[in-house]
Amino acid sequence: MEPKLTRRDFSEKLAFGSFWTAVGASVAGMLRLLKPAVMPEASTRVKLGHPDESPPGTERYFPEHNLFVFSEGAGIHAISAICPHLGCIVKQLPEGRFECPCHGSRFNAAGEVFAGPAPSGLPWIEIRRAPNGVLYADTAVTVPAGTQWSRA
Ligand code: FES
Repeated sequence: MEPKLTRRDFSEKLAFGSFWTAVGASVAGMLRLLKPAVMPEASTRVKLGHPDESPPGTERYFPEHNLFVFSEGAGIHAISAICPHLGCIVKQLPEGRFECPCHGSRFNAAGEVFAGPAPSGLPWIEIRRAPNGVLYADTAVTVPAGTQWSRA
């Protein structure tokens, strides 16, 4: 014959189970705190350096940010290498134009589209000078085509 479960035994088992359930939930909650709730996004800010690092007549490419930076005369401007059609990365041709390898859109040196399916030109990117004199581009901020940061 099986021993009968008394009210006291039942209460002890219920308390024991409740205790370990609470401990388990607490440990799970604490472990969850070790993982950040919000993951930081990659910065859209690109350090271009001091203006002297971009003398007139030079151009630089920042592949990790898909950004072309051109220095002409008194101005410096930045153009995104991300094709506005479906987001492929354009290649710069020797004559200064750009071509998208995915569907053949073509852009002139100012980023204006003249062939292919791209619905618009390559975005121009804002350039700002920090108080310490260093130039930064922010790939999240577009400006009208032709906008330059001026040395003057
Ligand atoms: S992604 Fe550039 S033309 Fe389609």
